[in-house]
Amino acid sequence: VNWTVTERKTINSIWAKVHIEEVGTQALVRLLVVYPWTQRYFSTFGNLSNPAAIAGNAKVHEHGKTVLTAVGEAVRHMDDVKSTFAKLSKLHSEKLHVDPDNFKHLGDCLSIVLAATFGHAYTPDVQAAWQKFIAVIVSALSSQYH
Ligand code: HEM
Repeated sequence: VNWTVTERKTINSIWAKVHIEEVGTQALVRLLVVYPWTQRYFSTFGNLSNPAAIAGNAKVHEHGKTVLTAVGEAVRHMDDVKSTFAKLSKLHSEKLHVDPDNFKHLGDCLSIVLAATFGHAYTPDVQAAWQKFIAVIVSALSSQYH
C-alpha cells in the first residue's frame, strides 16, 4: 500500500486526538449490539444481554482500549501493518477462531464512531484516508487465515 503525504498527515492528525478508551469502547459496543453474533467470542466478559449492559460492561471498556491500542500500533507502522499484525492475525485465526468477516464489521463500527466523534472535521478526505487505513488493518488481520 502506498500512502500520500496528505493521507499520512490526515491519519496521524486524527489519531493524535483519539481518546483510545472512549473510541475503542464505543466501537466495540456498536459491534456487539449491531452484530450480536460477535458476542459469542466474548463469553468470558459476563453480562452482554442488552445494549445498556454491553455499554456498562467493564471488560468491554478494557477490551475496547486494547483494540484501539493495537490500531495505534498500526498508525505507527503504516508502511508495514501486515507484519505488525502477523501475530495478532494468527491469534484471531488459530486460537480465537474469529470469523474474519467480523474484522470488516468492527472496521465499519470504528468509521462510524470516528465520524460521530469528529463531526465537521471528518471531511470527505479524512473519511477516505481512514477508510483506506481501516481496510489495510482488516486485510492485515485476515492475512494469517488459510
Ligand atoms: C483479543 C485486536 C477484531 C475477538 C485481541 C487483542 C487485540 C485485538 C490487541 C489482545 C491480544 C492479546 O491478548 O495478545 C483486534 C483488532 C481488531 C480485532 C485490532 C480489528 C480492528 C476482533 C473481532 C473479534 C475479536 C472482530 C470478534 C468478533 C477477540 C477476542 C479476543 C481478542 C475474543 C480475546 C479477548 C479476551 O479474552 O481477552 N484483539 N481485534 N477481535 N479479540 Fe480482537
